Amino acid sequence: MKDKKTDSAFKDSVAKYGGLLINQFSILVKLTGIHSSINEAMVNAATKLFSVLEPFLGETGELTVRMIEGSFFIEDVRVRASLSDVDNFEFLAGEFKKRKIGLLTFRAPLQSDDLIYLAYSIRGGAEASEIQSLLESKLTKGVSIGGPLFFEKKESLDMGDAKAVATKLYTVGLSAAKEVDDSARSGKPINVRRVKRVIHAMVDNILKDETHILGFTTLKSFENYLYNHMINTAILSIAIGKRINLAKNLLSKLGIAAFFHDIGKAEIPSSILNKPSEFSNREMDLIMRHPVEGVKILIRAKDLSDISIISMLVSLEHHLNYDSSGYPELTRKRTPNIFSRIIGIADYYDNFTSGKIYGRIAYTPENVLKMMHEKGGKSLDPVLVRIFINMLAK
Ligand SMILES: [Fe+2]
Ligand SMILES: [Fe+2]
Repeated sequence: MKDKKTDSAFKDSVAKYGGLLINQFSILVKLTGIHSSINEAMVNAATKLFSVLEPFLGETGELTVRMIEGSFFIEDVRVRASLSDVDNFEFLAGEFKKRKIGLLTFRAPLQSDDLIYLAYSIRGGAEASEIQSLLESKLTKGVSIGGPLFFEKKESLDMGDAKAVATKLYTVGLSAAKEVDDSARSGKPINVRRVKRVIHAMVDNILKDETHILGFTTLKSFENYLYNHMINTAILSIAIGKRINLAKNLLSKLGIAAFFHDIGKAEIPSSILNKPSEFSNREMDLIMRHPVEGVKILIRAKDLSDISIISMLVSLEHHLNYDSSGYPELTRKRTPNIFSRIIGIADYYDNFTSGKIYGRIAYTPENVLKMMHEKGGKSLDPVLVRIFINMLAK
């Protein structure tokens, strides 16, 4: 059987049609509250969903849609909601949560009628197991339904499936990033404690087996670039720290500082951050203030500790280069501290591979590693660059 998860064409299809699939499914479930199954609107909605689903079944003849902490995944590929989809995504996530549904499996030969039964069974059943019985009673073979994949409690992080743990960790990290960015943008003190919990779990995970969580850093978000960037920089930095044998408590401090390194960007309006064209001089000045703005935000954090102090230093220094070039301009030139140098490397890599800044071009990981090799001993720490290239260029 072909492994869909590693197929980049499959990932492209999810990026293109995944949102439409979730959207149409949500509409169909919504309609069951208004119409009977023979209603034309229901039939049309089911036909439309069927036409989106069918090509996805492909040669394996099977497709899973999962919900993890309110986010939808088609196989292992996260489905991004565009702004106009958000209502429908939230409605469906709410229905799934209420009924403890975590997994839907579609199987060939799927029929449009199966989808109508599925939508009614979801509305009619109290829980996943009951909905599955309803589907079986209707002899619906094209779809089946399963319970929640992840429990809401954080304690479930010790569950056996390493891939599932990494998925959960990454998702929890994204929501912590959103919370921190939201707080900073609205001028509220940021909650360092929640970030600490997430990063501690990430350090444990990376020390045990980093393969899965490192894999997530290649997923690039279109709408929430900053959230992905915060987590990716943390993961990559911890992985570098592991290779230079930093003690576990230092790995946590490093990860937290990496998570917060761009927090000063909360002072930059999203319209500028997400601007598709070149920045004006005035906008560039504003962007270049983010290291200093980050320090100010971290000073206002709820529980100021030595972790916050290190984070402040990293925020200030992460655009200061190994060869003392970069910004902000300091009265006395100096080499940034080891944490800032590690985070600077992770930051460089994630920025260039994401294509969200620097001319909006997404470079391939191979090209970025080549560029980094050139910069070793100049703007980037030569030893750390070598370690980083060895780590990723397998
Ligand atoms: Fe930055
Ligand atoms: Fe950054």
